[in-house]
Parts: sequence; structure tokens; C-alpha cells
Amino acid sequence: MINKALLQRWRDKVVGLDTKVPLGNGMMATSINFDNAATTPPFKAVIKNICNFAPWYSSIHRGAGYKSQLSSNIYEMARYKVSSFVKANPSVHDIIFVKNTTEAINKVAYRLWDANNKKVILCSDMEHHSNDLPWRDKYHVDYICIDNKGRLMLNDLEDKLQKYGDKVVLVTIAGASNVTGHINPIHKIARIAHRYGAKLLVDGAQLVPHASVDMKPFYSPEHIDFLTFSGHKMYAPFGIGILIGPKEIFKEGAPEFTGGGTVKAVTHDFVCWADSPNKEEAGTPNLMGVIALSTAIDILTAIGMDNIEVYERALIRYAIRRLAPIPNIQLYGDIENIDNRVAIISFNIKDLPHGLIASALSYESAISVRSGCFCAHPYIQKLLGLSPEDIQKQIKTIKSPYAGMVRVSFGLYNTKEEIDILVDKLWEIALNPDRYKDKYRPI
Ligand SMILES: Cc1ncc(COP(=O)(O)O)c(C=O)c1O
Repeated sequence: MINKALLQRWRDKVVGLDTKVPLGNGMMATSINFDNAATTPPFKAVIKNICNFAPWYSSIHRGAGYKSQLSSNIYEMARYKVSSFVKANPSVHDIIFVKNTTEAINKVAYRLWDANNKKVILCSDMEHHSNDLPWRDKYHVDYICIDNKGRLMLNDLEDKLQKYGDKVVLVTIAGASNVTGHINPIHKIARIAHRYGAKLLVDGAQLVPHASVDMKPFYSPEHIDFLTFSGHKMYAPFGIGILIGPKEIFKEGAPEFTGGGTVKAVTHDFVCWADSPNKEEAGTPNLMGVIALSTAIDILTAIGMDNIEVYERALIRYAIRRLAPIPNIQLYGDIENIDNRVAIISFNIKDLPHGLIASALSYESAISVRSGCFCAHPYIQKLLGLSPEDIQKQIKTIKSPYAGMVRVSFGLYNTKEEIDILVDKLWEIALNPDRYKDKYRPI
């Protein structure tokens, strides 16, 4: 049971919850952050550990000095912490530190690519652009369809696997959508993909910070082959991301970025590549990012990912219940079946541009939300039911008002009281559309 005292202890771990920001009328108000799907505020301990470590900070894998050895050790040990957080296995997986999920997926796209044999990638209609665009120039990409609630259709996955047969090298899907919060049944999908000889990549950017993830052992048909996620969405900014994948994939050949740290030996006409993961981490590694991530994992583990999931589920359930009666509101996605949904909800209010609603929330209530298409244009177009002609019209007149949505996304520190403030404001906006229509320029 997550009671008020426990929640307060969680809140005390997060930076900036009391920050006051200016409203449109010049007054100051405590900011409410409902944009956690974009990025979360850091944990206080993340900042503290970085400051505490700063006197010891030194080069990684490059120095003989004490500080350098300590830095290298901490960096390498963090791979084990990441691995146990998502139940990877360091003897069969490479745990590679990258910049973010986007870089991680680009890396896999490069690694699986065979220029002489155009393979098939199955991604889905609900993907973030970071799990769609990296595949497009190197593979034949097909998209697993969604149903009318925006959920992935597993029968379509199976049909497409049958259609393309052994040409499918990878199924790649979001663990959870950044638009609707829908959680995909990743282990069921793994079972299906493996049955057809394909590997599975789970884009964990929106799942890993909100639920416990288990990659499962390779011998299990439900295992996840590749997992990607970002530190900045789990209270650990400083530019760190994770790619976990089978060692065999990174064993041979050159990495896509070459340079310092990627080699064992070089002459003018010869290169002997280092072993992975070092080979895959060109240039000086991001130790401060790794310290941030490692600290965040400690805190998330101490709080308990299951507790976080339960609490955030209660928040989304509450939010949907309170938002649904607002006049002219349209909530997107599956609002009946909330049990497999992370705490993200996207909506529109009829005849009011999404950007205007986001501006009003910011200027009048100090509430931060996101508006637009959230780097998931094809999914938004489908959820909005846009016709091909509508889409073409939008593409031609790319400026506002571009069809989109308002997105609210919660973190482990948000409260029902904050949701009440949002709901009250949205009632006011919805009941007075004429007052709001020209009041703000969409952000
Ligand atoms: C589902 C999903 N995948 C990938 C990304 C890309 O993450 P990053 O910007 O950290 O690379 C995001 C970012 O919002 C996301 O929501």
C-alpha cells in the first residue's frame, strides 16, 4: 500500500518539485510536471553522487593513475548493475553504453544490416520515430497493424511473419507506447517472433522506467534479444542510454563509429578491433552519465519497480476517471483496459488546438504537458483517423495547426492532487472554448 507518507518519501528523492515558475499574469506558481514521457527530473542522489565522485573523476580505459583505474572500474561494474536491473546475462549479452535509445536502435540497425541482402524488419504502426526511421534506408520495413483502440494486432504480426518467412531478421516494437501508454505483450511477441526464426528488439524507453522488465534467459522462447532504454527518462540525465544485445551480434567486424577506444592495434593499413562492448563505445566514455544511471537504478530498485507500477497505474486510473466526463474531451487509446498501460494519456478537446490547451495549462496553472505528435506521426494519424488526403494536406502546409494531441505523462512522484488541478483547469477550458480560442499562441 503506497500511503501519503511513503509517497512523500519518494517525492523527497526528486529534484525540483517545489520550483516556482512564472504564470502568464506575472504571478509565480509551483510547477507541475506532467511531461515525464519526454524526460524526468533527476533524483537528488544522482546529482549528489556526481558531485561526490567529481574529485575522483578521470579517464576511462586510458590511464594508469589511481583515479583513472577507479573510474574505469566503476564504469565496468555498472554494466553488471544494468544487467541485473533488467535480468540480462553478462556472459551472453553485451551491455553497451550509448547516448540514448535513439542511438541504441541506430546501432542495431547498422549491425544487422547486410548490404547484399535486403532483409525485412517488422516494426509497428505505434512506434516512436526512433524505432522506425533508423530501419528505413537499410531494410524493407513493414508495419504490424493496430486495432481501432490503438493496440498492436498480434494476428497481423503472425500474418506478416508468415508472409516474409526467413527474410525477417527482426521484430522491433515499443515495450510501451509514448502516445497511449499501451504496454505490448513483449514475451508473447518474443514467442511468436522466435517461432519464425526472427529476433526481437524491445524499445524500452517508456517501459523500463515504469515496470520491472525481465529479458529472460536465451533458452526461453520468450526471451528478449535486444533491449534499449534511456537514462534521462528514469531520473538520470547526463546523456546516457543502454543497448543490450547478444554478444555474437557485436563480435565480428567494424563498429559504425570508429576511433579512440575501439581498437587493439592499428597500422596505416591494418586495424585489429577491440572486443565489444568497448569496440561499440567510440571515444571517451560518459562516466558521469553511467554514475547517474547506476544511482538511479539503485533508487528505483530500493523503491521497487512493482511498487512504482502499482502506484502509477493508480494515477492513470484516477486520471482517466476524472478526465473522461469533461465536456468534448476525447481520450485516445484503450481506456477500459488500463492494466496494461503505463501512466500516459493523450487527449483533445473538440475545436480547441492541442497547442493552445498546452499553452493555457502552462500560462495559467504552471502545468507542463506536451502537445503535438510526440515523434510518432504515423500512430497519431491513425488514432486521429486522418485520411490519406488529410495527411497530404498537413504535409504540404507543415505549419500549425498541425493535427495532434495533448499528452499527460506521470512519474513516480506525481500526485492525485496535481491531477485534480489539471482536471479543474481542463473543465474551465472546455466550458469556455470561446474565451480560450484566441487567447494563446500554441507553444
Ligand atoms: C517509445 C520511445 N522510443 C524511443 C524514444 C527515443 O528516446 P531518446 O530521445 O532518449 O533517444 C522515445 C522518446 O521519447 C520514446 O518515447
